[in-house]
Amino acid sequence: MIDLVVRGARLVTDDGLVDLRIDGGRFVAVSPHTDEAPEARTVLDADGALASPPYVEPHVHLDTCLTAGQPRWNRSGTLWEGIACWAERKATLTREDVLERAEEVLRWYAANGTLHVRSHVDVTDPSLVALDAMLELRDRVREVVDLQLVAFPQEGICSFPDGEKLLAEAARRGVDAIGAIPHFEDTREDGVRSVEIAVALAEEHGRFVDAHCDEIDDDQSRFVEVLATQAHRRGLRDRVTASHTTAMGSYNAAYSQKLHRILARSGINLVCNPMVNLHLQGRLDGYPRRRGLTQVKEALAAGVNVAFGGDDVMDPWYPLGTANPIQVAHVGAHATQLTAPAEVAECFRMVTDGAAAVLGLGERYGIAEGRPADLMLLPAADPFDVVRRQVAPSHVIRRGRVVATTPPRVTTLDWPGRPNEPIDFVRTGDR
Ligand code: FE2
Repeated sequence: MIDLVVRGARLVTDDGLVDLRIDGGRFVAVSPHTDEAPEARTVLDADGALASPPYVEPHVHLDTCLTAGQPRWNRSGTLWEGIACWAERKATLTREDVLERAEEVLRWYAANGTLHVRSHVDVTDPSLVALDAMLELRDRVREVVDLQLVAFPQEGICSFPDGEKLLAEAARRGVDAIGAIPHFEDTREDGVRSVEIAVALAEEHGRFVDAHCDEIDDDQSRFVEVLATQAHRRGLRDRVTASHTTAMGSYNAAYSQKLHRILARSGINLVCNPMVNLHLQGRLDGYPRRRGLTQVKEALAAGVNVAFGGDDVMDPWYPLGTANPIQVAHVGAHATQLTAPAEVAECFRMVTDGAAAVLGLGERYGIAEGRPADLMLLPAADPFDVVRRQVAPSHVIRRGRVVATTPPRVTTLDWPGRPNEPIDFVRTGDR
């Protein structure tokens, strides 16, 4: 007898009902739904809910989460003041402090249906206390969440004392990816060199590259072309990701066109963090005030993989957040004007399959025979409906085990002529 059957679910890619058979933590069969009572230790009736692979968080900073206001609030709301606040808070870090905050937010992620997370960790700290804590946490949470760690040189590789040595030490201690922050380096030349150092280090250790790249409203910040060209010339393709890339929101049309070709040729991923960068960017503008986001729609049209990330949860750069990718997708749809029906569905893809591609999950992700049985059940008609109503997963399943459940939200309305009817905000039609 197998462990679990999820009966009568619908896949994102298909309208028909299916039954999902799960045993030993893997999908053993995905087949058309039948009325026969299945033989399994547990049978879960999906009742037509959408069965989707879990959300994937492609970009967050778990070492800084839940520190907003410590030791002071970021009054200007800029990236730069955030870095200054964090430098003060960083001096007080302990292993226990980092573990407690990061684990709490990972619990929020899992409850929201996210079972794969890529977290950046600040390594511009001679003690590397946050890095060691996060490496410990990566092992501790493995049963529920796969955690990837990026060595992130928050205060620079070339511009911070021993920045390059600290990055190399982080690679040696076992991070999954190497980061950079070229727009924060003192000079453009240092910025270019920092990208070259990060890419070479990643190649040497067989790691991914994930650089904070051009997170600034300066239309002259053009390090994404450097990163994409390095990826192209070294054949690294989708093992390389450019995160934030907010300067793209200020590039002129002629340069944008050139850049789209370079990006498409390189095969790199982009990660746009719409909630945080709507909040951070444009702070020095009068009016009109720029949105300061990646050219998401144009990059997608050029064939570039783009994912949406959350970036921060209650930290010096962003005081809000509940570690919920569907909220990010919802805001992202507005912020990047991806609001035609197929575009809203694309926003769902950007926090599932698109983000999984950033993490290089390959056949460790997706609902198919032989793959790990990680999924969520969404009581919704389709991805558009999930984004519009920000539907919470009724069940989150990790390796065939239900790890989170959320009962449906029910509101009852007393309306003239229609007393105490439930309201579910459902309205589906042709799209
Ligand atoms: Fe970030």
